[in-house]
Amino acid sequence: VTKGHGAKGISDLRLDALPDQYIQPPEERIDVTKVLDKEPRFFLVSDNGQKRLSDAVFLVVPVIDISNLDDPVVADRIAEAAEKWGFFQIVNHGVPVEVLENVKVAARRFFELPVEEKIKYTQENSPSKAVRLTTSFIPKADKVLEWKDYLSLFYVSDDESSKYWPAACKNEAMEFMNKSEFVIKWLLKVLMQRLNVEDLDSKESLLMGSRRINLNYYPICPNPELAIGVGRHSDVSTFTFLLQDHIGGLYVRKLETDFWIQVPPIPGSIVINVGDALEIFSNGKYKSAEHRVAANGNNNRISVPIFVNPSPGEIIGPLPEVLENGEKPIYKHVLYSDYVKHFYRKSHDGKLTVDFAK
Ligand code: SIN
Ligand code: FE2
Repeated sequence: VTKGHGAKGISDLRLDALPDQYIQPPEERIDVTKVLDKEPRFFLVSDNGQKRLSDAVFLVVPVIDISNLDDPVVADRIAEAAEKWGFFQIVNHGVPVEVLENVKVAARRFFELPVEEKIKYTQENSPSKAVRLTTSFIPKADKVLEWKDYLSLFYVSDDESSKYWPAACKNEAMEFMNKSEFVIKWLLKVLMQRLNVEDLDSKESLLMGSRRINLNYYPICPNPELAIGVGRHSDVSTFTFLLQDHIGGLYVRKLETDFWIQVPPIPGSIVINVGDALEIFSNGKYKSAEHRVAANGNNNRISVPIFVNPSPGEIIGPLPEVLENGEKPIYKHVLYSDYVKHFYRKSHDGKLTVDFAK
């Protein structure tokens, strides 16, 4: 398989067995005994010195209806989910369902282009740094490849971006970004209010000064149980605004446990996950959670995250408003572009990137 064909090129060969370079060591595969889907859990609790089993606890990533943006209960649920899970889904968010459908169709259209077309966007050939087609995560660094191709589109400005983004998807990707802007800003406002950070205009560059949209394509995989779509990682964003299609396969690690829980596809929903930058800004109050994606033996899967990031030239660290109560900073200040560089120097490694800011 030559360069530019990616995981889809291999998938299209319909091989009986997964090529060796995609076979993950057992500890990186998804262990179904460690996946909890709607299973009740029981915990040992102490009751006046007596140990007993707790009531059944069902672990479900919170799904939050945000149709009433002024309802303080909605804001509470968002802050609570960002603290306890680092992950939640929003429904009734106001981004039109056609916009969501169109960007998924456009992503599929791009990946179904002939290789001669797609190859124009690989790192060697791309007309701009703002457009890059990659397979796996960092093919040069990944010891074992991830079963995924992705087109990464850096947002510069509407004009610049439409010059370089591929015609097969540029309008739909831009529309998704533009139509999501309102709810992205609203989410940030809610999350920041709970940290006593009010003046967001002056902090826009720090908190959300740069954006990237990725079109992810996970082709049908021979031996999906031996492979991984995306390995364990946390995002380096402030937060990520993710559209997934109906196939499923995204898992989040429940904070402080070894259990993985599926983030089930819900028609029309958007998945929000806290990124490392927000964990750092909040001095650890909000948590960026590890997540991963399974490979699938029967279906192609599409997802489209918008990464809401600090501007590369900003210095990120715990916000002064957060430290006003006298709490000790648990992260140091780092240049955001250095933080990102650190993330892209190595394969996915769970949550170890945050150590760079410790
Ligand atoms: C990712 O977190 O890298 C991808 C998420 C997804 O495809 O659902
Ligand atoms: Fe991610």
